[in-house]
Amino acid sequence: MEAKTIRQHLSENNLISSIVCLEEVDSTNEYLKRNAKQHPDGALVIAERQSAGKGSKGRSWQSEAGSGVWMSLLLKPKIHISKVPMLTLVMAVSIARAIRQLYELPALIKWPNDIVCHGKKLCGILTEMRNSLDQDYQVVIGMGINVNAKEFPQEICHRATSVFLETGTLQKRSYLVANIMNLFANDYRNFIEHEDLSGLLRTYSNLSATIGEQVRVLDAHGEYLATAISVNRKGHLLVEKEDKSLVEVFADEVSVRGIYGYAP
Ligand code: BTN
Repeated sequence: MEAKTIRQHLSENNLISSIVCLEEVDSTNEYLKRNAKQHPDGALVIAERQSAGKGSKGRSWQSEAGSGVWMSLLLKPKIHISKVPMLTLVMAVSIARAIRQLYELPALIKWPNDIVCHGKKLCGILTEMRNSLDQDYQVVIGMGINVNAKEFPQEICHRATSVFLETGTLQKRSYLVANIMNLFANDYRNFIEHEDLSGLLRTYSNLSATIGEQVRVLDAHGEYLATAISVNRKGHLLVEKEDKSLVEVFADEVSVRGIYGYAP
């Protein structure tokens, strides 16, 4: 991928200050965390291949050369640090909308940070912080989008998919990157203006694969079944337990799984 091609498709109001395209790196998230001081707010780093791609919850993320978009965006927002996890949901909205608009696929968001299509994962988002004890902290939003992968290893092929597998056509990754960033420019401004998700909630809810579904919630005390009712303006999931009590679920505390297969 070339920075020049991505830039050609960026809209005027985009937030991207610089684009670094690398052939190989351990992880674009780690790269930006290491080099956050030298990079401006809005720096975008994209790698053809990651040798140590990171998934959420300490898992690894398969990042074969050329088969996907492996990228991270550096942000230095002036918001309270407690609001940073909401940025994952903001980016999820932008990515799901870009995939829908470009490929006419029914992409949905599995709360909080997966984009799924026909029940299989198309994209994962990993938001991390650097200097989190400092007022001057930085945020790195990492995105892994399966674009042109033709197959997946046996262990994950029942729950992973790619744009190619869904559409039958190889896609230009640079065009996807630019479209996501164009949509994110507006979604991010909306979020910063409200300092929460209130301006994006309707869109988020319409794109949710989780709301209305049966979910299994794993928290520190164990596991229970519930129905996902809504996502609130803080990005928390409201679930109704079998005894009809309502619980607010925080993304960093629990793991939510659909009870039928991988998604919702
Ligand atoms: C998940 O587990 O769903 C999150 C996956 C995030 C993967 C992306 S690929 C680009 C960036 N660099 C990483 O090491 N991880 C994220």
